[in-house]
Amino acid sequence: MAIAQPATRPANPRFSSGPCAKPPVFDVSKFADAALGRSHRAAIGKDKLKAAIEGTREILGIPADYRIGIVPASDTGAVEMALWSLLGARKVEMLAWESFGAGWVTDVVKQLKLDAEVKTADYGQIVDLDSVDCDNDVVFTWNGTTSGVRVPNGDWITANRQGLTICDATSAAFAMDLPWDKLDVTTFSWQKVLGGEAAHGMIVLSPRAVERLESYTPAWPLPKIFRMTKGGKLIEGIFKGETINTPSMLAVEDYLLALDWARSVGGLKGLIARADANAQAIFDFCDTHDWIANLAENAATRSNTSVCLKFTDARIQDGAAFAKAVAKRLEAEGVALDIGAYRDAPAGLRIWCGGTVETADISALLPWLTWAFEAEIAAQAQAA
Ligand SMILES: Cc1ncc(COP(=O)(O)O)c(C=O)c1O
Repeated sequence: MAIAQPATRPANPRFSSGPCAKPPVFDVSKFADAALGRSHRAAIGKDKLKAAIEGTREILGIPADYRIGIVPASDTGAVEMALWSLLGARKVEMLAWESFGAGWVTDVVKQLKLDAEVKTADYGQIVDLDSVDCDNDVVFTWNGTTSGVRVPNGDWITANRQGLTICDATSAAFAMDLPWDKLDVTTFSWQKVLGGEAAHGMIVLSPRAVERLESYTPAWPLPKIFRMTKGGKLIEGIFKGETINTPSMLAVEDYLLALDWARSVGGLKGLIARADANAQAIFDFCDTHDWIANLAENAATRSNTSVCLKFTDARIQDGAAFAKAVAKRLEAEGVALDIGAYRDAPAGLRIWCGGTVETADISALLPWLTWAFEAEIAAQAQAA
């Protein structure tokens, strides 16, 4: 028996966790003023790069004495720069509870070969944050994009710490409150919450991070692309838009458009409210449907951007095949694109809820989840 389809589809089926949906106002015709075909060091290009930096500061409420740089290789580039430039000066604690955090552990332990204390938790859980000693350098991911588990707050980070906190906030910045006084290095990419383009990342340095850069030289060589100092002094130009190498001015223009849109929805507060409303619609759906649940076990750690879901129905025979088939059905119907769980994560779905996604589209998607689930249960029974 065919399962009846819901009457309406999301107007925009883009629920990918990165690159994420473009802002609703996105339109390539708005790029007419992009500084293309010119040197990025010409006044027009430099002004745009500066506007990207200062717009970021304004919307995220980053303190005036923190440096903000646009760097190559997206969030990964920004994190690598931080790890390779800063670590090795004191003991390191690595915190990981999903794939990206685990990737940073590999870098620090296997590539930099540091004798780090590694604390891990399974998908759906988080490490014991109260056990973290902030007199060590601490590397962690604010929001675990592949498990949908985030740190609930920065209370566990001490104000008078001796170590540096290095935070990969790529799926958190512009959707969650980040306590800047607790974060010494923060990184994110344009392609996530604001729906910008890939390839460029941002690195935010506290005065204490700058002090470390100027007083410590790592034992290993640093490629040009990672170098933030020259002759023991910070290269201040990087934090004024004089990028290390050539940026894409088209991506810059796109980011400026996204920042303008962010202002139009009420800045950070508005962006957080949009993500919260999106995630809440899914949380409510899980509360009223007993075959699906949030992968994040503790409600306080549930992400409002990368919401990860698992199927809990006892009739499901092959969890991975089932989840894949559900995602495939939704994609084939043009209802939801790219919502399968991350390749290293437990089987399930991952629905992006950042501010560029409209709550009406999440609401329109949810009945389709029921449709795809029931259709797949029926298909499974038929195949048996
Ligand atoms: C937490 C986290 N870190 C790092 C990355 C890598 O980001 P990028 O591809 O922008 O370098 C991602 C991408 O999804 C992420 O979610």
